[in-house]
Amino acid sequence: MQEGKIPVKELIHSALDARKMSYAPYSGYAVGAALLTDGGKVYQGVNIENASYGATNCAERTAFFKAVSEGERSFKAIAIVGGLSGEEPVDYAYPCGVCRQVMQEFTDNDFCVIVAKSVSDYQLYKLDELLPYGFGGKSIR
Ligand code: THU
Repeated sequence: MQEGKIPVKELIHSALDARKMSYAPYSGYAVGAALLTDGGKVYQGVNIENASYGATNCAERTAFFKAVSEGERSFKAIAIVGGLSGEEPVDYAYPCGVCRQVMQEFTDNDFCVIVAKSVSDYQLYKLDELLPYGFGGKSIR
């Protein structure tokens, strides 16, 4: 996917910054996300784990839920970074299936997913590539 007008490096920087706030005492895997709205605002998110593991919330969903609960409904891109807590990311952190589904609910075809190891090492995808043939609101209307 093309970078176009997406401020990729700023979003990655914001995700790396957010990641410092990750609450991951069980997995020891810290994730940060930075979600860009159509209006140019950035909402950060981190993974928030729980002793009851299933109650854990991923970084991407934290960012989306923060934004949606503030009234945001249109989004351009999300940057995601993840790796062992206290260490720099060494791999791309791809969003889990549940997060892909949540992204689809609030975005259209050209929503850009950025997975990064650093501000200079990243990959861009359209959500369509990560969630082809997804189930969405149109399916049930
Ligand atoms: N995690 C995320 O924050 N985002 C993802 O898309 C995948 C996984 C978190 C959840 C959990 O806290 C840790 O990574 C290990 O699974």
